[in-house]
Amino acid sequence: MGNVIELKNVGKTYTIGEVKLDVLKGISLSLKKGEDLAIIGASGSGKTTMLNMIGILDTPTIGHVLIDGKDVSKMNTSEQAEVRRNKIGFVFQFFYLLPNLTALENVELPMMFNKKRNVGRGEELLKQVGLEKRMHHYPGQLSGGERQRVAIARALINEPEIILADEPTGNLDSKSGKQIMDILYGLNKKKISLIVITHDTSIAKNIKRKIYLKDGQIIKGR
Ligand SMILES: Nc1ncnc2c1ncn2[C@@H]1O[C@H](COP(=O)(O)OP(=O)(O)O)[C@@H](O)[C@H]1O
Ligand SMILES: [Mg+2]
Repeated sequence: MGNVIELKNVGKTYTIGEVKLDVLKGISLSLKKGEDLAIIGASGSGKTTMLNMIGILDTPTIGHVLIDGKDVSKMNTSEQAEVRRNKIGFVFQFFYLLPNLTALENVELPMMFNKKRNVGRGEELLKQVGLEKRMHHYPGQLSGGERQRVAIARALINEPEIILADEPTGNLDSKSGKQIMDILYGLNKKKISLIVITHDTSIAKNIKRKIYLKDGQIIKGR
């Protein structure tokens, strides 16, 4: 079976004024369908930069990112947007829910830009994450853990192949954090590829495959 994600010698250099900063230094990696992976590293090691390349939210300075065997750099911006919308679900540390939309409206939002509408899926997903009684709450009326569960439901609305989670428990207490990780592991069993970023190894203990990042390089794991 082919790789869902492949990074070939991906590097990222930021130039600010006269200062060049090599934030990622030749990262190579591949992930098969339904595989799970934890990216572990201290703050500033390049984890978010790496995930943003995979999610086509940022462009490498060198190297290539392939999604389902297709080189992202050879896609035009609308093809890239389509991959982002249909193949990838994002979960972030600070949830990024829209405050003036209800939980259900937040979940259904990414479907509005899609030709394929799936009536009832938003409700179904909110039930799956245990929020059947919170569908019409606004984010301000939800706890952090509940907000993150809304964000997970939103990430799943367009039936992605890949979930990218950047420190998904970073803003939660340990009990809510564990619930969120359990939901994410559960997805992986349904054959969704999962990449979770964390600086906390205990969060990643159930994820079999781990890579450790330091100063923009993989220092352990593959
Ligand atoms: N847009 C940017 N411009 C310049 N430097 C950046 C930018 N984004 C991140 N960096 C730098 O790249 C390094 C890695 O950042 P990041 O990928 O966010 O690390 P992590 O997610 O592991 O904490 C940091 O030193 C950060 O200051
Ligand atoms: Mg980060």
